[in-house]
Amino acid sequence: MWSLILFVAIGLFGSESFVKANCTIEAKGNLKFPKKFNFGVATSAYQIEGGWNADGKGPSIWDEFTHNYPERIIDGSNGDSAAESYRLFELDLQALKQLGAKHYRFSIAWTRIFPTGDVHLKNQKGIDYYNMVINKLRENKIEPMVTMYHWDLPVALQKFGGFANALIIDQFSDYAEELFKLFGDRVKTWITFNEPNNICKAGYGTGYAPPLIQAPGVGDYICFTNLLKAHGTTYRLYQKKFAKKQKGKIGITLDIFYLFSKTNNTDDVNRAMDYNLGLLAYPIFSKSGDFPPIVLKEIEKSSMEEGRAKSRLPSLGEYWTKIIKGSGDFIGINYYTSRYVKPATEPMGENPSMERDINIQMDVDPNWPRAKADWVYCIPQGLESLLKYLRDEYNNVEVKITENGWVDSGELNDDNRIRYFKSHIQAVLNAINDGCNVTSYSAWSLVDNFEWLQGYTEKFGLYSVNMKSTKKGRIPKKSALYYKKVIATRSVPVFEYLY
Ligand code: NOJ
Repeated sequence: MWSLILFVAIGLFGSESFVKANCTIEAKGNLKFPKKFNFGVATSAYQIEGGWNADGKGPSIWDEFTHNYPERIIDGSNGDSAAESYRLFELDLQALKQLGAKHYRFSIAWTRIFPTGDVHLKNQKGIDYYNMVINKLRENKIEPMVTMYHWDLPVALQKFGGFANALIIDQFSDYAEELFKLFGDRVKTWITFNEPNNICKAGYGTGYAPPLIQAPGVGDYICFTNLLKAHGTTYRLYQKKFAKKQKGKIGITLDIFYLFSKTNNTDDVNRAMDYNLGLLAYPIFSKSGDFPPIVLKEIEKSSMEEGRAKSRLPSLGEYWTKIIKGSGDFIGINYYTSRYVKPATEPMGENPSMERDINIQMDVDPNWPRAKADWVYCIPQGLESLLKYLRDEYNNVEVKITENGWVDSGELNDDNRIRYFKSHIQAVLNAINDGCNVTSYSAWSLVDNFEWLQGYTEKFGLYSVNMKSTKKGRIPKKSALYYKKVIATRSVPVFEYLY
């Protein structure tokens, strides 16, 4: 009788990999973060700066995408003004100081300092702005962590093809070289690209985001390949010309849902992780380099079946594999949520497409607590498992959590955000206690901001900003007070202390 009940229960709820549905996680081991561990917050230029054409800034593909097409953004908005950090950085600084943030991850808008993307045409006012930001952060003992590219390509470079053209390798590394020259004396943590998955899949595959290139299963892979080459070239350039003097670190930020299997099938999980994370992580952080062998093999096979002369995802080849392999001092991880995976029974997506190549069905548990956005569920176990996966599969590479956060409608009394932060920060601590080499955590986001296609309808900020006011004051939400306490105590305070 009991075995029957157990059998039914396992059938309904999966085996041990079943993930708890209450946004909590047990604490394991030390209750304090190591002294060197660093807490901060993150933002990106287009989402907060505003001043889209102020003081000589040139247009980016996001300016072009939103201007004159309000129907493309859910509330008809754009990033023209956003939280106005270009004009009001002082307010961000006050918030950072109030939190006690040890670092601030922000991105540089390429077109603010090189309006056409061409490094021979500088815009001094844009350079002055970022010098001011960096200097003020440092005066306040807040380490600048700089993302070089957070989706806002100069329109002028998109005209050459953007990431679909191998020209981007030099265009990007020339830009990066200027950044090292301009700011590298003070910036010691660089992130080349934020979320290549989004840049390439949404921009050049499915094509629902700028630059709207629809070439699934082809354009996305061309973009990944060029982007990895641009990243590798930039890393080598820094090592050759700047590293000795500037002594900074360079990484890349990848986004990943952790993937669980309800049936505990590790092959399913490993294959899915190879496509979703490995496509970018393996060429840079694995011992052998190049794309994951299984991905290369499977896409080559499908390409032959499609009657092509060569694979839609060719190997990077010996020359580039050598440049790209090892071209990261750390891996940046944007973790928000998880999914269950199982192999699809029918071919998925159109032919060809990455969806069809991957052919994995992703699922959620309807009991998982969901945020305002339909893709975010609170699964701290996924973060702990992901960090262990990186420890085991990628030789305990240094990991910086470059984003993690909860989305709602902007309420000041944001208990669910506190629950999310509490459990995810605990997951990071558990992973560290289990030998994972995680060195920093950035909460997304410092302030409410422009959430891309969702405009201002979805809010991630620790500080609320009324986008309609001219003052754009930063008002701390309850979660800001909680995070301040996390930073001050280097621990995961109980939630109740706020009542
Ligand atoms: C990751 C992106 O880097 C960021 O720009 C975005 O706002 C958050 N995800 C939330 O969707």
